[in-house]
Amino acid sequence: MQNPCRASLGKLASASGFGKAAIAILLIAASGCALADSPAPRADVFVETGTTTAGEATANGLRGTERVDFILGRMAIEEKLGQLNQMAGGRQIALNSRITDAEYDRVRAGGVCSYLHVAGAEFLGGIQRVAVEESRHGIPLLFAMDVVHGYRTIFPVPLGIAATFDTADAERAARVAAVEASGAGLHWTFAPMLDIARDARWGCIVEGAGEEPFLGSAMARAQVRGYQGADLTRADTIIATAKHFGAYGAGTGGCDYDSADISERTLMDVYLPPFHAAAEEGAGSFMVAFNDIGGVPTTANKALVHDLLRGKWDYDGLVVSDWNAVLELVNHGVAETRAGAGALALLASVDMEMTSGIYAADMLAAVEASPALQAALDASARRVLMAKDRLGLFDDPYAYSDPAREAAVMLTPDHRAAARRVAERSMVLLRNDAGLLPLKPEPGKVAVIGALAGDARSMIGSWKAQGREEDVITVVDALRTRLGEAHVVYEPGAGTRDPADPAAIARAVAAAEAADVVILVTGEDYNLSGEARSRSDIGLPAPQQVLAKAVLATGKPVVTILMTGRPLDLGPLDREGAAILVAWFPGIEAGPAVANVLFGDVAPAGRLPASFPRRTGQSPIFIGHYPTGRPANEDLSKDSARYMDIPITPAYAFGHGLSYAAFEYDNLQLSAETLAPGGTLTISADITNTSQADADEVVQLYVRDPVAQVARPQQELRGFARVSIEAGKTKRVAFTLRPEQFAYFAPSGQFEADAGRIDFGIGAGSADIRLTGQFRITAPLIADGPAAALATPVSIMEE
Ligand code: BGC
Repeated sequence: MQNPCRASLGKLASASGFGKAAIAILLIAASGCALADSPAPRADVFVETGTTTAGEATANGLRGTERVDFILGRMAIEEKLGQLNQMAGGRQIALNSRITDAEYDRVRAGGVCSYLHVAGAEFLGGIQRVAVEESRHGIPLLFAMDVVHGYRTIFPVPLGIAATFDTADAERAARVAAVEASGAGLHWTFAPMLDIARDARWGCIVEGAGEEPFLGSAMARAQVRGYQGADLTRADTIIATAKHFGAYGAGTGGCDYDSADISERTLMDVYLPPFHAAAEEGAGSFMVAFNDIGGVPTTANKALVHDLLRGKWDYDGLVVSDWNAVLELVNHGVAETRAGAGALALLASVDMEMTSGIYAADMLAAVEASPALQAALDASARRVLMAKDRLGLFDDPYAYSDPAREAAVMLTPDHRAAARRVAERSMVLLRNDAGLLPLKPEPGKVAVIGALAGDARSMIGSWKAQGREEDVITVVDALRTRLGEAHVVYEPGAGTRDPADPAAIARAVAAAEAADVVILVTGEDYNLSGEARSRSDIGLPAPQQVLAKAVLATGKPVVTILMTGRPLDLGPLDREGAAILVAWFPGIEAGPAVANVLFGDVAPAGRLPASFPRRTGQSPIFIGHYPTGRPANEDLSKDSARYMDIPITPAYAFGHGLSYAAFEYDNLQLSAETLAPGGTLTISADITNTSQADADEVVQLYVRDPVAQVARPQQELRGFARVSIEAGKTKRVAFTLRPEQFAYFAPSGQFEADAGRIDFGIGAGSADIRLTGQFRITAPLIADGPAAALATPVSIMEE
């Protein structure tokens, strides 16, 4: 069989009529493409043709920093600036659409480093060939896209993935995404999003792991591993981007792009730990946030990016701006001119500029005049070239250009199975008062109600990459398949935008009345959460409220499936007797996953990664609050830190999620009463499944430091384990802690843990603590970094 890579590249070469030398290089490069795992010996060809600097460096046997410095030493300032330039090669909905002839010329001239919103192994292989063979230095391009929860095989949205409370699920989803995206010619994804989101009004909450930094850090590590694999030079790995570095999730009032006016302590202890974890895990790139912290836009925040990330954290990966954000420094009011904005960003060590084109177009004179800018430029260009080197692109620029691989890896049965499994495991049973769930195998006549039940587009969420509606099995499709058409009546009733139509509501009510059980699929559509989708009211959209009230008024047994990208104010849904399953936006396997959970093939065990407020006005509400001098008190006659018109607790707290099984927690043991610097302490407990059903339990460890130099949060997660336990069986779960895990950003400006008591609780949720205890830290210590970024080893033993 002919080598597909060679065939496609050969086609490209002849189509564009290149001379013999170019074709010779192509063929050699193509054989390298076929042998992605064992770089081909092509150095002699570069010597023969001697065409590019990169070729010469490689031919001379240079690798890594030596090769990069060789190339860098031969580049003009304009060319270095070109290496900091990322351009939109298309739009999210029209990939590659901006790659015009002028772009090929820009590539030839070395004026661009990277394109985003592009895809396609063959197409990208074509433009890569121009970069490698027709530009002076032969530096390969980087192709990037927001592959956030799948490329073609779409998994649940990231908030749903976090709800699995299982890092293996997060890693698997990222791995599948990387295999498909790299097959489509991409080297780089703008994921994972690591912003802590304590305010459910914030639209981007859907893109991250929720409110809690320990969970966020664990998910960060897992996703970086999934995207990048163990060896970035492999052709099925892509560079991950830890984004949006800073405090993007802390925008005032939960409003996207807005200022984060937070304390240094909250920044260090809460918002930065997932980034610290990602840096330690080797994330190849970071993206800086659009917003400012206390008036300093992160894109120009030298203290944060240059001094902390580069300096203290020793991060040498590639830092990219967000879309147009360098130019937006002018809107922020910290720069007057384009070149001024560019200088601020470059000096902050933002290496690559996404789309505003200032570095490449406006900064030559400034750089020529400034040794500081020249040094910053050299450092940034070096990091960019090193990223390409780490991907193996100087050795095999066409490793990602194989259309046959692209076709073979897309939407495979394995990938679909993984998406279904993660979707099933992401679902959170909020309540099940009357035991309506699981449904009987033959539930009688089922009315499926709500336009979202058939809304394939919403099921794949806002960052759908190359996900397609036709790949989605919707909830209504899956229920029809499972129960037979004759047993399922589907009435959309109402959508999420247009005012409810009384006639359609009446049809939904009639269907409910004629049914034995109603499955009401309600919530947000995909376009109500995500970037620039902050909402001042996180109740159900108005037409869905009308529908829900009408259906609930029938008095029929109603199971609610909640599709959403954020915690919602559940309004009328949250009533006595309710059964509510949060399905998030579950991905292409939405229908089968929902059906499997509804009918008990899979017992739900997802947990909330962010608290659900009772009403929007209770936002932000999260477990990591500092205690006050007058802690919230249920007794309204006491003056305490609370709203007077609402109970003091959230509707559903972080970590909440029910099961079809029941679990008992017992036999709490500590390996010691004290924890000394340099030592460890193990906390363990027996978890018994006392029910008739096999199921998973998510065992959670929370801690609290009751007396410290500054107030410490009321609850902090410090361990979790999703454990499968058969009916009637017991497993022992053990968490091992180090004293560094109690360090916090102290008044000294260092991370310190104090000597003294630590309280802890183990349970099924932050508001469902079953066992409590305490131990003492014997002596104070100074730690290297934020406590929440540290992982807690967990062991699980059969009893
Ligand atoms: C978002 C980023 C995203 C970028 C490129 C921006 O608007 O904030 O998260 O990676 O666009 O699509």
